[in-house]
Amino acid sequence: MRPLVIGANGQIGRQLISQLPLSGHHCTAMVRSNDQFQQLEERGIAAVRASLSDSVEHLTKIMQGHDSVIFTAGSGAKTGADQTLLIDLDGAVKAMEASTQAGIEHFVMVSAIGAHRRERWNEALKAYYVAKHYADKELIRSGLNYTIVRPGRLSNEPASGKVLVASDICQEGSIARADVAAVICTVLGDKRFYAHSFDLLAGRDNIQQALEAIL
Ligand SMILES: NC(=O)c1ccc[n+]([C@@H]2O[C@H](COP(=O)([O-])OP(=O)(O)OC[C@H]3O[C@@H](n4cnc5c(N)ncnc54)[C@H](OP(=O)(O)O)[C@@H]3O)[C@@H](O)[C@H]2O)c1
Repeated sequence: MRPLVIGANGQIGRQLISQLPLSGHHCTAMVRSNDQFQQLEERGIAAVRASLSDSVEHLTKIMQGHDSVIFTAGSGAKTGADQTLLIDLDGAVKAMEASTQAGIEHFVMVSAIGAHRRERWNEALKAYYVAKHYADKELIRSGLNYTIVRPGRLSNEPASGKVLVASDICQEGSIARADVAAVICTVLGDKRFYAHSFDLLAGRDNIQQALEAIL
């Protein structure tokens, strides 16, 4: 596949940029700053400079020549609810609108564990969960082929290759960003995972087996 990675300078994004080519995917990194853009070019990695604050028309142009989009951007824990709304919700919806215009075949969303269940939202992170919940809902309604990956707390542990995947995982837990990226590389462009959403934690099963068990 030829995915555009939105949030490519982020911690999952960086894992994706390294792992996607090893899985046979030819990705482009969407980054915000000139420095990030130049560093990627120097490493021989295709990159475009754009922001989710840009217009849908601009995002559509950037998506031309790609067949898939991976959304792993986020405003981060240090910003207020206004940025959460603008980036995690409206930015995601703009990316979906642009994907529709650009004829994108597969949209992979990095959401958050339990985002689909209000009763599971952490009180301190409510604005964040609202944004994730409605972005995911909009993606499902968008008509795009989608896969929604809802990881638990992210860690920078090395990849284990072992995960727990289910439509609802009602337990606390974490997962290595490297394993989230590996899961995305596995589902990208695989039609069997279109219209699927799942929670994701570190677990005991290898990634392929764990994913195929939900089909
Ligand atoms: N932290 C957790 O425990 C947790 C758990 C579950 C799910 N998630 C979700 O997982 C995803 C990735 O997490 P992560 O740890 O990789 O996050 P991260 O390191 O904070 O990366 C987020 C990326 O989003 C980019 N971004 C912010 N605003 C943008 C804009 N206006 N336009 C384009 N890009 C923008 C940032 O760009 P810059 O580099 O230029 O700032 C950054 O590269 C996020 O969606 C997050 O909500 C996180």
